[in-house]
Amino acid sequence: MASSPRLSPLLSVGDVARRSGLPVSTLHFYESKGLIAADRSRGNQRRYTRDVLRRVAIIRVAQRLGLPLSEIAALLAPIPPGSVPTQAEVRAMAARWRAALQERIDGLTRLRDHLDGCIGCGCLSMEECPLRNPADQLGQTASGPVLLDRAPAQGS
Ligand code: FES
Repeated sequence: MASSPRLSPLLSVGDVARRSGLPVSTLHFYESKGLIAADRSRGNQRRYTRDVLRRVAIIRVAQRLGLPLSEIAALLAPIPPGSVPTQAEVRAMAARWRAALQERIDGLTRLRDHLDGCIGCGCLSMEECPLRNPADQLGQTASGPVLLDRAPAQGS
């Protein structure tokens, strides 16, 4: 009677791509951002522990919620690569995601509410227009001629 092949405890980047449904390039990108980590085989090929699949799933959910990678990295930082997040850790992340989402919703709601004044106006005034300078963000980040210190954006 033939025995079934034994599963390798480590996954190649192709294995992770196939099982997560993500392109290899995305996995390399996540690795470059420190979101996932791989060891190297003797032939210098990436080898992932199986926990990477759960980590990738968490990253995808967080991205779907609109969180930037920098925030996702901060959320994952306490969970070292190679260890599987516990249910309690995932619950804690979800609570933080909820707070981050609520912050975004509140910001968008404020912007929507101020938009009424812009309809039919078109001034895009730095002092008055919430679209051009929402909540006076420029005034909060620096003083003086903030825009003069920046390279002009294309199309503005
Ligand atoms: S376009 Fe005039 S206030 Fe926004």
